[in-house]
Amino acid sequence: MSSDNSEQRDFWSDAAGPKWVRLQAQMDQLMQPVLDVVWDRAGLAQGQRVLDVGSGTGTSTLQAADQVAPDGHVTGADISDSMTALARTRTHGRPGVSLILADVANHAFQTQSFDAVVSRFGVMFFADSVAAFANIRAAMVPGAQITFAAWADIPDNPFFTTPARIAKSVVGAPPRPDPDAPGPFAFREAGRVSGILSGAGFRDTQIETLDVLLDGGSDPAALSRTMCQIGPADVALRFAGADAATTETLENALCEAMREFETPDGLRIPAAVHVVTARA
Ligand SMILES: C[S@@+](CC[C@H](N)C(=O)[O-])C[C@H]1O[C@@H](n2cnc3c(N)ncnc32)[C@H](O)[C@@H]1O
Repeated sequence: MSSDNSEQRDFWSDAAGPKWVRLQAQMDQLMQPVLDVVWDRAGLAQGQRVLDVGSGTGTSTLQAADQVAPDGHVTGADISDSMTALARTRTHGRPGVSLILADVANHAFQTQSFDAVVSRFGVMFFADSVAAFANIRAAMVPGAQITFAAWADIPDNPFFTTPARIAKSVVGAPPRPDPDAPGPFAFREAGRVSGILSGAGFRDTQIETLDVLLDGGSDPAALSRTMCQIGPADVALRFAGADAATTETLENALCEAMREFETPDGLRIPAAVHVVTARA
């Protein structure tokens, strides 16, 4: 199987990365409930050396560093130069943190140098997942725990299905991507995930499928604008070559659809997420 992740590198550096950089605060608010579950299951401890896989704009790296301070260390590794540039700015001067711009699938990590590995949505993008996880495992102390979050079933994730449905009604549907290809839903089947981990030499794999409420803030218009820049609505708009007026039509339609998720605490979007743990 090919282990070439250059397509993902280009996507996360040049296409998606600048948007994640622009939307960092909103994305962090939205996804914090997922990170909270990762921290709960990871049980990081003071003094640990942690690898954060697909560290993006740096939020998870910073929060992990808080948990292992004062003498622990977190290495954030990401393939996206644009997202890593923001992460560098955000972590500048912060003790116990370093960032590397790297493809974790084949980066030459120091062998057995991490006490824990964590990731929020950063492990579903490898061309050869078994080889990538084997490379990560080799960097872990034997017995160390990896903990990561990955999206579960597509129909249980309206953060994706609602924009896809509304976009289809406004601009039409783009060709359906192969959900097994590297991408957000590549790990939706728990059996496939355990096969990848055991193939990479991990043991004691546990996969919990949790219902999480994403925090969409309190402004449906802002959330729908975000959704039109990232994910299925963005793909549909770009495929259709939509102009500004059509984009605004879709934003308004999505804004209306977001009302379904209004609660007294703000917009809460149900999500189904696998939280996976395994030992090196
Ligand atoms: C969905 S984003 C999640 C970012 C971050 N973990 C978060 O939760 O905000 C996926 C991240 O994985 C990174 N990524 C994808 N393939 C990678 C690879 N082979 N090596 C390192 N990072 C990778 C992307 O650049 C991107 O930052």
